[in-house]
Amino acid sequence: MCINRGFPCFISKQKAFEMKSIISYPKRGPWGNSSYRGNTSGHVIKDVVQQFFPRQHPKRFIEVFSGGGTGEEVAMDLGIKNSLHLDLNNGWNAMTDEIPFGSDFIFSHPPYWDIISYQRYNGGHSDDLSLNMSYDEFISKLDQVNAKIYQSLLNGGIHAFLVGDVRRKGAYYSIIKDMTWFGSLEAHIIKTQHNMLSDNKTYSNNNFISIVHEHLLVFKKDQVWMVQLKSTVTKYFDLRQFNNITWRDLIQGALEWLGGKAELAEIYKVIEGSKKTLKNNHWKDKIRQTLQLHDNFKSSSRGVWELKF
Ligand SMILES: C[S@@+](CC[C@H](N)C(=O)[O-])C[C@H]1O[C@@H](n2cnc3c(N)ncnc32)[C@H](O)[C@@H]1O
Repeated sequence: MCINRGFPCFISKQKAFEMKSIISYPKRGPWGNSSYRGNTSGHVIKDVVQQFFPRQHPKRFIEVFSGGGTGEEVAMDLGIKNSLHLDLNNGWNAMTDEIPFGSDFIFSHPPYWDIISYQRYNGGHSDDLSLNMSYDEFISKLDQVNAKIYQSLLNGGIHAFLVGDVRRKGAYYSIIKDMTWFGSLEAHIIKTQHNMLSDNKTYSNNNFISIVHEHLLVFKKDQVWMVQLKSTVTKYFDLRQFNNITWRDLIQGALEWLGGKAELAEIYKVIEGSKKTLKNNHWKDKIRQTLQLHDNFKSSSRGVWELKF
């Protein structure tokens, strides 16, 4: 028998259940309504419960955005009797209603912005998070719900949050990157998506990488009052105001800005006032020297410059 410091070590030898950082369930399993749009596989919820509550059930399992009943059927399957499953479709509004109980496990699976409309399931409710709204408004509402979830957790409790990324009019939106993170991150799991309606769609422009994964973030509340908050800030900045941009970079930018081809005087005008020119009295000489010596530029006629590849 294995003995470790006088104790039998069967716990470390026999790990009953172990989730990995990539999960994939080609068959969604029997739980919940498989025709509810955007439903998830119950395996996700079941595995998270087994991973984080290996010895005993959560004190209370609450599901936010419970949709077609996947979490409820998983709870029944696991013998969890006091779970709560909250959704606009059963009268609970994440924007205005309280989380009714403290709990040590919350699973939430919000709409992915407006890619699937849930209006048909909630009678056209105006607080439906899947309504057509700006991305910023969606993120701000999601932050409000995530704050509410975190505040209601018991100390030591976890919030497992499932969401996907969105591509809209050529732009890529990463919801997990743009929303605020409440609490410490316990795990970031990538879930492969299967059987999506978009699998059968043909796109006129297929020059993009299809999104076939979702993110399962597991946050932990590890202090009663103090909370770790993380959020992303997007700033817009003129590259010309960077200290470490090179003369080559500046000239390339000026030529692109001027339509690919330009006279020296025009190039000076675009670059004048940049951080680099303010620090060098001979900046015009520097630009001329770079144009002449760098392989990236050529002169097509006297005093006219363009990019060369
Ligand atoms: C991605 S679905 C959840 C699917 C669910 N996990 C399942 O497996 O069936 C998102 C859910 O969020 C719900 N929802 C949208 N806005 C809501 C709000 N303000 N309050 C509560 N639920 C909302 C929708 O009704 C929808 O059921």
